[in-house]
Amino acid sequence: MTAQVRAGTLTELSAMGHLLVDGDRGEICIVSDGEQLFAIDNNCSHMGSQIHRGNISEGNIICPWHRARFELATGKSLDLYAKDVATYEVTVEGDIVLVNPTPR
Ligand code: FES
Repeated sequence: MTAQVRAGTLTELSAMGHLLVDGDRGEICIVSDGEQLFAIDNNCSHMGSQIHRGNISEGNIICPWHRARFELATGKSLDLYAKDVATYEVTVEGDIVLVNPTPR
């Protein structure tokens, strides 16, 4: 079992709109959609844009470059030109946001 890593705090997430942390296969972004937190690869599977710069809509995050949509819960791409991305377990202890750096 891989140890969880500290990604930041809920306060920081609220202020910045995202958190970033290094994972086993690249950078992970943590975002919230309503009350729920999600951790997903930060590098878009299409051409590598930073997904955390995208908008969130209806449970999906939308890449800022070519608008590929990824389900936050599963990492599944909803557009044929982009492959699925990995998701990660995220938990909260008090104000601290923790992420398992190994993909689900
Ligand atoms: S780089 Fe993300 S959709 Fe093209």
